[in-house]
Amino acid sequence: MEISKLYWVLETCNSAYCFGINDDGYLINSYWGKRKNNKTDYPLPGQKEGWASFDSPANVLQEEYPVYGGGFHHEPCLKITFADGVRDLVLRYDTDWSSKNEIAIQLRDSYYPIRLISHYRAHYDYDLIERWVEVFNEGNEPITIERIFSAQWHFPEQQQYFLSHLSGKWSDEFHLSREALTSGVKVLESRRLTSSHHHNPWFMVDAGNATETHGEVWFGALAWSGNWKLAAEVTNFDMTRISMGINDWDFAWRLNGGENFVSPSAFAGYTENGFGQASRSLHSFIREQLIPHESKPHKILYNSWEATLFDVDEISQTRLAEIAASMGVELFVLDDGWFYNRNSDQSGLGDWWPDPVKFPHGLQPLIQKVNQLGMDFGLWIEPEMVNPDSDLYRSHPNWILHFPTRKPTLARNQCILNMALPEVQTYLIEKIDRLLKENNIAFIKWDMNRNVSEPGWLHPPGDPKEIWVRYVQGLYRVWGELRLRHPDVIWQSCSGGGGRADLGILSFADQIWVSDNTQALARLQIQHGFSMAYPAITMEAWVTDADRGKLPLSFRFHVSMCGSLGIGGNLLQWCEDELDEATYWISRYKGLREIIQLGEQYRLEYYSTQYMSKDYQHGVLFVFNAGEPVQTNSIKVRLQGLQPDVIYEVEGFNQIKSGQDWMSEVLVFPLAEFESTIREIHKKIE
Ligand code: GLA
Repeated sequence: MEISKLYWVLETCNSAYCFGINDDGYLINSYWGKRKNNKTDYPLPGQKEGWASFDSPANVLQEEYPVYGGGFHHEPCLKITFADGVRDLVLRYDTDWSSKNEIAIQLRDSYYPIRLISHYRAHYDYDLIERWVEVFNEGNEPITIERIFSAQWHFPEQQQYFLSHLSGKWSDEFHLSREALTSGVKVLESRRLTSSHHHNPWFMVDAGNATETHGEVWFGALAWSGNWKLAAEVTNFDMTRISMGINDWDFAWRLNGGENFVSPSAFAGYTENGFGQASRSLHSFIREQLIPHESKPHKILYNSWEATLFDVDEISQTRLAEIAASMGVELFVLDDGWFYNRNSDQSGLGDWWPDPVKFPHGLQPLIQKVNQLGMDFGLWIEPEMVNPDSDLYRSHPNWILHFPTRKPTLARNQCILNMALPEVQTYLIEKIDRLLKENNIAFIKWDMNRNVSEPGWLHPPGDPKEIWVRYVQGLYRVWGELRLRHPDVIWQSCSGGGGRADLGILSFADQIWVSDNTQALARLQIQHGFSMAYPAITMEAWVTDADRGKLPLSFRFHVSMCGSLGIGGNLLQWCEDELDEATYWISRYKGLREIIQLGEQYRLEYYSTQYMSKDYQHGVLFVFNAGEPVQTNSIKVRLQGLQPDVIYEVEGFNQIKSGQDWMSEVLVFPLAEFESTIREIHKKIE
């Protein structure tokens, strides 16, 4: 074969990603950046000498998918132990195939019957490249996979880079940080079974000169809802790369002869238009390609959790539902407390049928009332959990994650079911399917309220450390099967707030409960961080009683209107003025939600946010004075995202100007501390 022909170019609307086999047989990344005029303009994969006797050529190359073997000492994507104890992979090009937007490169080990396919898919409109790998064991002996990442991404050489990432904790998620990457490895990860509140499987990288609106940004995310790892490495040769995939911490997978393993997908993209455009590319991709119900803006929901906690029954819920309906709410969600023997967080999880004391005739009478009031009905479940005080646990104590010699550590009085067990999957599918069949349920909030402990099981089919992956596969199977059987149901992913927000779960859930923290000021920061990766349609945001009497109701509504609006306060305690004002904002939101949920988002100064419809004819601007660090009572923002030649009017400004003019001017909003305003933007019809 002619090596120089083994070269591939994936072009998207504005970017290009190029790689090929160099003369020494390495699969090398040769370019990732702005799209050029001609395919011949891209650099070919080069050769490199090593560095003395201490660094082999592999250490100074940008290998697409480096594996542990030979003289390679940086972060590899794949590490395998063969049955004979050899821990060394030598993968060489075997064949490739491609279609319009996909390329697959097959590599084979030079001795062992191991085959790897590195897959690439270009998502043209979104400037995104999707990558995943498959490993095949074609021998008879099992091998152990000790690490299998989805991809390694390389940034142009010899620059100092900055990594933006999201971190936090329960009730305090999605803090955005940006830090210089220096020599060594910076690791972000989850060891908690879910993607977690603590770090989010997402990144942006820039050379220190990017802003919201300008500059080169490389960005990416992993579509995986379990333990994950991101390793950002700067080598001693000033090469910067990011690897992403399933976490190799406490991980091993026994791949028997004849079996294969498929990694989750990693996505990454490039823009020369700053962090804002990087977010918008991801937003559009998630909205248009990932979530199940793309073109449907979400209904405004009321959730009764904060009003009634576990004390739910037909009467209490009907009273709340009546008020919610009169305000214009469209979906009434019954949260925790409705199922068998669930009177506190001490008992009940696992027994997913209506509690006969609270709902003697099942959920139907309440659902009928809710439907008669003109609203859809939604329900909370936490399928992966079980309380020791439940019928399920009493019948199947071995269904939980545990080590037989250790006492299970409880958190919120609950244990985690082993989702890897087919019998657990069957039980959950059957119970939830029945609920959905027997009741007119339009929405499910799927919760997951603790992190892992004692990640063991009695009879693992392979290596016990496979649990991290098999759990997520089981979760996806249950959720996928239920989605298939009930395609119209809208699902929300909640894990004590934003503990499971990732591109994996967003293939099943249409939205995320972003945080249990519903204080408007905290939410502004949380929502800002969330918006780096995820679109407004996926961001469920409630107005609750958290700031009642402290912040104006309008401010609290404006914050929640930046996402998918919900109400979560105790409506029985709201006075008439509050209910009237809430009714006004709900109706205003209905007129704006297509722009907010289906449009493009622009982050402006001081958490102010602008949304533009996809055709750029209509927009809406939210401006906040959130106190610190604003010293004066005027907030200055500069609009973005208008079409330069189109003439627009902006509500509250007695002017008609071109988009270009509006965007070049600083708009001043006189707002006292904790005041906010909404302004509509419309194309001027001649
Ligand atoms: C979690 C959720 C809350 C609520 C409770 C119910 O904390 O994040 O919104 O559903 O569980 O127990």
